[in-house]
Amino acid sequence: MKAAILGAMPGINHIQRVVISDPGKPAYGEIRVRIASNSLNFHDFNVAVGVLPAAAGRILLSDGAGVVEEVGEGVTEFAPGDNVVSLFFPDWREGEATVANFSRTPGDGIDGYAVSRVVRPAGWFTHMPKGWTHSEAATLPTAGLTAWRALVVNGKIKAGDDVLILGTGGVSIFALQFALMAGARVWATTSSDEKAQWLLKKGVAGVVNYRTEPEWGKKIFDMTGGRGVDHVIEIGGPGTLSQSIAAARIGGHISLIGVFTGVTGDVSTGDIIAKQLKIKGVAVGNRAHQCDMIKALNATNIRPVIDCIFPFEEITAAFEHQIGNRHIGKICLEL
Ligand SMILES: NC(=O)c1ccc[n+]([C@@H]2O[C@H](COP(=O)([O-])OP(=O)(O)OC[C@H]3O[C@@H](n4cnc5c(N)ncnc54)[C@H](OP(=O)(O)O)[C@@H]3O)[C@@H](O)[C@H]2O)c1
Repeated sequence: MKAAILGAMPGINHIQRVVISDPGKPAYGEIRVRIASNSLNFHDFNVAVGVLPAAAGRILLSDGAGVVEEVGEGVTEFAPGDNVVSLFFPDWREGEATVANFSRTPGDGIDGYAVSRVVRPAGWFTHMPKGWTHSEAATLPTAGLTAWRALVVNGKIKAGDDVLILGTGGVSIFALQFALMAGARVWATTSSDEKAQWLLKKGVAGVVNYRTEPEWGKKIFDMTGGRGVDHVIEIGGPGTLSQSIAAARIGGHISLIGVFTGVTGDVSTGDIIAKQLKIKGVAVGNRAHQCDMIKALNATNIRPVIDCIFPFEEITAAFEHQIGNRHIGKICLEL
């Protein structure tokens, strides 16, 4: 059975494709799953290049979807043939977060889903949305759930709210879809005029190019009629936060999600106080959140935006495509 593992040296060119032994039969409470697809996340890239150090030999990738082949004794939620999708925090079932690190995240602290078959506790998976492909479902555990948590769980988004998404990556495009689903008005930034056209066609009310317009936050604020946005999907970090604050309305909600410009920096605390903002750190979500999101997806026509699907063997090329920032939405691998 095939797997993609972290080599002795970090780097996407050092990822090793190996043959490993079959995981065998599921024990009590476990299921055996044939993994059909993965999606890539910036987190996976950071593990692969050693920014997030993980053990050599670690099976990569946090997100996987596949088919249940066998269930162990005591498993009632799944049966052979069910389509399932993994969890970013497999031990966090509900309520407040139980971890503040990635020690139990697949593809980082523990083995991930870049592998043909796994035997894992049944609770480490949920059912997939009905009728979705495995690649579509594999986009959900990290990017989908983070956007859901930011807007629906934490943001309690309402019809008529204004939402700002930054860029056109996996989290932001899910946020766009969930915001439109809720009846919100969506604003966006991007680095590309071509992507701006794509966003406008998808129903975004207005787009600002953050490369040519450094004061994009003020611009978005003005475009909302001088009120500002209710929610910001902040995927940039310290290099973008000041402009996100500028874009927000008084009392607005900023979901602090991404680290593209680093993990520490200057913050205009005076502006946060003056605007009485709610700034909430988001680390994906729990199993109950994922079940709620999938229930909602089963009731809508939303399908994930997949930029491209690479064969499993081309995992390095898939990561290269990811860091090229030419994609819109998600990048997947098929086993
Ligand atoms: N906290 C959490 O729970 C959580 C969960 C998932 C992801 N994340 C983090 O959130 C971020 C986004 O993840 P993702 O999976 O959506 O990544 P992704 O799909 O790789 O997103 C890439 C896109 O982000 C945009 N972007 C990059 N740098 C930017 C910047 N400085 N300002 C504005 N936009 C920028 C670009 O869009 P354009 O080409 O349109 O400019 C780029 O194409 C990453 O930092 C990731 O680690 C955090």
